[in-house]
Amino acid sequence: MQRFLIKETAKHIGEKVRVCGWVNTYRAHGKILFIDLRDISGVLQVVFVPSNKEAYELAQKLRTEWVVEIIGQIVKRPENMVNAKIDTGLIEMSVESLKVLSESETLPLSIEGDGYEINEEVRMKYRYLDLRRERLKNNLIMRHKVMKLVREFLDKEGFAEIETPILTKSTPEGARDYIVPSRQEPGKFYALPQSPQQYKQLLMTAGFEKYFQFAKCLRDEDPRGDRQPEFTQLDLEMSFVSQEDVMELIERLLILTIQNLFPNKKIQEIPFPRIDYKDAMAKYKTDRPDIRNDKNDKNILAFCWVVNFPFFEKTDEGGWTFTHNPFSAARPEFEDDLMNKKNIGDILTTQYDVVLNGFEIGGGSIRNHKPEALEKVFEIMGYGKEIIYDKFGHMMDAFKHGTPPHGGIAWGFDRVMTLLLGEPNIREVMAFPKTGDGRDLMMNAPSEVDKKQLKDLHINIVKETKK
Ligand code: AMO
Repeated sequence: MQRFLIKETAKHIGEKVRVCGWVNTYRAHGKILFIDLRDISGVLQVVFVPSNKEAYELAQKLRTEWVVEIIGQIVKRPENMVNAKIDTGLIEMSVESLKVLSESETLPLSIEGDGYEINEEVRMKYRYLDLRRERLKNNLIMRHKVMKLVREFLDKEGFAEIETPILTKSTPEGARDYIVPSRQEPGKFYALPQSPQQYKQLLMTAGFEKYFQFAKCLRDEDPRGDRQPEFTQLDLEMSFVSQEDVMELIERLLILTIQNLFPNKKIQEIPFPRIDYKDAMAKYKTDRPDIRNDKNDKNILAFCWVVNFPFFEKTDEGGWTFTHNPFSAARPEFEDDLMNKKNIGDILTTQYDVVLNGFEIGGGSIRNHKPEALEKVFEIMGYGKEIIYDKFGHMMDAFKHGTPPHGGIAWGFDRVMTLLLGEPNIREVMAFPKTGDGRDLMMNAPSEVDKKQLKDLHINIVKETKK
């Protein structure tokens, strides 16, 4: 017999159907037993009466969160039991047979309500139970819907989704790398990508013209409310485009997402206002200003672009480093200064950041596609020719073989979802996030590995003795 999803049952009054799910609640009214059965689609009231002896006796053993299969007839509820708040509030199931598929011990945490008040360690350790919570289920399903909309939109715009490696060499994104030892080459390491930056540029050299990817990015930094060591970017890159083209596309996509999937939200200003970096710093003392007119309205989305960032900033040691991305191009009026390494502190980059309610949700730039210009950036940062070619030889080579002008952007996808869903923390929109100290309490990672694994990887652990 075909399984019905609970939300479908309301259309089948009078029919016999089979449903499966979890016992959400269990209660007795005199001799009659009621359970609310829950599946991914909704909740159904199920009624056991003593006249069906076999099912009734088994039903007396049921406890919440047991997994069951029930066959029965969908009937109209008595009028005094109608619940207008739920899809299945007009109906209930009169049981014919009950089968227990899986039992459950008492849960270590409550899955009713929003769960914000529950100890984080317990929520993370039993994340698979925490995720039974309606709020989290909804968050992950909305995340899926946004991904689907984005994929369809970009596909229509002529983008191809292309995956890039996780085992790679580090990109200079500014955070610490996670590294993976090589078994075949003792003493050598892969790095996990901080972003697909170099790969996506090389895909432009390859001639794909429009690339995107929901990319896993890994950065060994301490997690915060809006930051995780492992997170997802909506990463994209386009050839033959100007800064305006990329910004226009992203703005259109963000507006479409909100209008289609978050109709209760109101975008404060369209087109998104643009703010110069120096004005943002002067007026808001930050490069990610919260420009909401009314900060109490939870449905306001105040987007803005921040542009005209300085390319370089001084390091503590007195040298120069990039502010955002070494692969960015200088704004055209500063190209000469870059090539002549003049007025370095004044050079502005083509970097554009998109900011929402005070959070940086994305950033990108038009890139340097000429090898001489990229070389100058690295020279300004104090890299000698040898280092440039050792670290970035593949980029320099690629740029010598017909690389089109190109530019792109990446959204912090988890951050976007956090803000659209009005959640206080990025962890609330990720299925299996790390804790504040970077651990996965459910899997118990990081953890020790066995001696054989270490030997294969030519690794010796030296335990530091406390001084
Ligand atoms: P950037 O480093 O600015 O740019 O990253 C892009 C966006 O990713 C989000 N983000 C994070 N989200 C969660 N946890 C983190 N640890 C984290 N770090 C960054 C932010 C940020 O705006 N390759 C370039 C993009 C490009 O130039 O195309 C890049 O990675 O929302």
